Amino acid sequence: MEERTLLTLMVFSSLIVLAETIALKHGIEIYKLHVDSRVTSRFAHTLITSKIVNRANESREVTFEVELPKTAFITNFSMSIDGKAYPGIIKEKASAQKEYDTAVAQGQGAGLVRITGRKLEQFHISISIAAASKVTFELTYEELLKRQLGKFELLIKLQPKQLVTHFQIDVHIFEPQGICCLETDSTFMTNELTKALTKVQSETKAHILFKPTADQQRINPELNENLLNGDFVVRYDVKRGATAGDMQIVNGYFVHYFAPHEMPALPKNVIFVIDRSGSMAGRKIEQTRDALLKILRDLRLKDRFSFITFNSKVVEWKSSLLQATSENVASAAGFVQTISASGGTDINRALLAAVSLLDKSEGLPEKSVSMIILLTDGQPTSGESNVEVIQENIQKAVDGKYALFCLGLGFDVSYKFLEKMALSNGGLARRIYENADADLQLQGFYQEVATPILMKIEMHYPENAVEGLTKNNFKLFFEGSEIIVSGKISNELDILPVEIKAQSHAGGLTLREETNVKEKERVFQNQSYIFENFTERLWAYLTIQQLLEKSISAQEEDQKTLEAKALELSLRYSFVTPLTSMVVTKPGDQQQMELANKPTEADNEKSSSFAAGDAYRQRVGSAPGKCFSFDFIQNHFHIALLKRLLSHYSSWLISQLRGKSAIKLSMLISSISVGRVRSKTRAQLLANEYPQLLLQLPKQNDIICLRIDGQAQPSVHLLSDPEQGLTVRGKLGERTNHFVQLEINYANPPVQIHVSTNGVVLGHSNRSVQLPWTKSATSTVQGLSVSVEKERSFTASLSGMVTVRISLIKIPDAFLGLDFLHPDRFSDKVSGALGQFYSKAQFENNSNMNQRADERLLRVSGAEHKVARQYKKDYRLESTSDPVSCWSIDLTP
Ligand SMILES: *[C@@H]1O[C@H](CO)[C@@H](O)[C@H](O)[C@H]1NC(C)=O
Ligand SMILES: *[C@@H]1O[C@H](CO)[C@@H](O)[C@H](O)[C@H]1NC(C)=O
Ligand SMILES: *[C@@H]1O[C@H](CO)[C@@H](O)[C@H](O)[C@H]1NC(C)=O
Ligand SMILES: *[C@@H]1O[C@H](CO)[C@@H](O)[C@H](O)[C@H]1NC(C)=O
Repeated sequence: MEERTLLTLMVFSSLIVLAETIALKHGIEIYKLHVDSRVTSRFAHTLITSKIVNRANESREVTFEVELPKTAFITNFSMSIDGKAYPGIIKEKASAQKEYDTAVAQGQGAGLVRITGRKLEQFHISISIAAASKVTFELTYEELLKRQLGKFELLIKLQPKQLVTHFQIDVHIFEPQGICCLETDSTFMTNELTKALTKVQSETKAHILFKPTADQQRINPELNENLLNGDFVVRYDVKRGATAGDMQIVNGYFVHYFAPHEMPALPKNVIFVIDRSGSMAGRKIEQTRDALLKILRDLRLKDRFSFITFNSKVVEWKSSLLQATSENVASAAGFVQTISASGGTDINRALLAAVSLLDKSEGLPEKSVSMIILLTDGQPTSGESNVEVIQENIQKAVDGKYALFCLGLGFDVSYKFLEKMALSNGGLARRIYENADADLQLQGFYQEVATPILMKIEMHYPENAVEGLTKNNFKLFFEGSEIIVSGKISNELDILPVEIKAQSHAGGLTLREETNVKEKERVFQNQSYIFENFTERLWAYLTIQQLLEKSISAQEEDQKTLEAKALELSLRYSFVTPLTSMVVTKPGDQQQMELANKPTEADNEKSSSFAAGDAYRQRVGSAPGKCFSFDFIQNHFHIALLKRLLSHYSSWLISQLRGKSAIKLSMLISSISVGRVRSKTRAQLLANEYPQLLLQLPKQNDIICLRIDGQAQPSVHLLSDPEQGLTVRGKLGERTNHFVQLEINYANPPVQIHVSTNGVVLGHSNRSVQLPWTKSATSTVQGLSVSVEKERSFTASLSGMVTVRISLIKIPDAFLGLDFLHPDRFSDKVSGALGQFYSKAQFENNSNMNQRADERLLRVSGAEHKVARQYKKDYRLESTSDPVSCWSIDLTP
């Protein structure tokens, strides 16, 4: 038996990075890992196959872990141990839970699916297999890719944690409308890995194959660690004609896709209702302010807007909506800067105030969209605090006239409450994760709803010939999204007519089209690699999603009917939904155990969902006082590293624990013997300091981190690009060996920018403007927009040009980081100590020199530099973020 010690620890997330990457399983080899995705008209069917062998001479625990998109339903699972199959069976949830709760609670190897991040949830199973045994895991899930900001995205998360001999991701896409703008993206791609990626595309089909060899996966020849750790993303859009959308039919089930484009936006009347209660203090309110400032800039002249901020008191910025003229936007920006946080949370009064502001606003354009965007990070604590009463009040007040969007910031909100309120008022809810990029998430959400182009959309099909129609009335259509309606053609219909009615900026809009059913069915006939009956499964998927969504805002008795229908379909089409679970008969004792369920976003708040089971579990990057628990399986840990980790933190860890756990931990630490020490490389890899500069090289699709030894020089010429009219020089601090001053010169408009750790000075036609770090501010000089994010960063950007970003870092000593956004915009003439990397850098592919995989030769302007793969802290992110993997280089200009 392996000795296990379960510890629940309060630790920093940087520790987790270490712990995860060293979870080596001795004797357990994953020799095959295939991800096979087939996407037919946005409906994606993904099969993950993993073959594992126990090469140890005793039985060992093997683990199969998959992170899948939250929007997907698991449809099948099976494991086969030495040829004997153990299929997963989908059952109604209630009964499954009664029977199998105990098995799970006792930690017998299956972790139920749980949410692990913004987009993903994790499926997990651990089983013990005998020496020399082989096991094959197969997991299938299906999802309808949702068009957001003009793109469909297929996300595949990888983390094999060891080298895999037969590894591949195989994606086939078939879009009868035609594929456009296909791209792949990943968080781990290196030059070497790019060679393992092939993309073949025709008018309607695409095939993407990523098949790195074990050597290409290797991060380092000594550690056998796998580089593949992160997201692999395929994005595309489809081509569209200016018609009433596209119809697809297979075996009597039709799917109708409608996404009009190139239509003018409808003006919108938007009220931002912003929580400024005490819990928003600090980072959250700062990020909210930043996001609002950026959102303000994106308002269109025809839009009208106002702000309501609330704690226990509700403050209206203006008593009516203002048009988004530049004066009004500037005045609003001034107001936004003053929002500060304290007090309670009166959501009820704030929303009622927003509704009444819209109600009494006069002169709103007739063809315009009115919406309320609520941002809150907590529960209603002051004024009306009964959530049901609030929901009722708001629904009565809104009365179908406006759309309400609810954004919940962090995990202290009641997502269920926000979701129900949004869905019953024609909008939707979204959780904003409380991370370094919360402002970007807010902005991103706003962008999704920023451009309404149609209202009151009705999609009509012949009533007597179509049954099981999914939702066909939509309040709003936003640019970049897509409306999907599906149903079953009940009769022998030759022609399926469609009529779409909607309100556009120009008034009423009617689109009609007729589809020849037989002709459409022929499109899919000989597509051998497309999975069968996809329109029927898509119909079932969409129907279940919509029934579940409807049941959230329905009355209790309706809820039961809706859920019963959703359950029936989940079982018929074998989808693991919130109403079903998957069970499997365990090898060994032949007992059944619950294997998979479907958590909802609201379940994300219950800490219990990750406290049970015997998997190592963690919850990263959320609520304050981050709580992680993990399983220390002594055999499975790299002893030397564990010792290193514990010797650094042991006294602190022990001080955080009480009683038995502390004793256990001390025993564990003293029982660890130092053998097989191999921590040197790891120590090098994890050099935990900030680099001076981080450069994202667009051509190489890689990052280099630079140290420049320019102590002796008064100022180092970092970059000039004559075509961008941009020059950057920098000065190193006396003792810090980091930059403390940077000079940016623009030729057109002629602007000089002096950035130091004290602040920013803008020089323009003999005038100068001071921007201190203590305040967020934005300003525009002849098209050059500059902005200071308080105590954090400075950016300068000109339309179509590279954006210069300078980060202020205060640890250990104050210094400035520098990087460039859109570096692909640099011209070939870019030069300077940094500039040369954007034009002339080339990695040597010299395989005959016995080179280590974590070292390369980088040739720049005739000079050769030996660069090493290292992990560095990314100064652009929170100090607790994961380090970035980059090629590290020292330069003497
Ligand atoms: C195999 O088992 C024996 C004891 O039964 C042990 O001494 C030996 O180290 C094991 N070998 C491996 C490779 O684990
Ligand atoms: C589930 O997967 C197993 C193993 O691949 C397969 O035999 C079975 O047919 C699948 N079931 C369904 C419903 O697709
Ligand atoms: C599909 O394949 C069959 C037999 O291979 C062929 O007769 C038929 O013409 C094909 N149909 C289409 C639409 O290509
Ligand atoms: C596909 O649909 C047809 C017609 O409804 C049915 O006969 C067939 O069994 C279905 N195939 C699968 C794999 O479900």
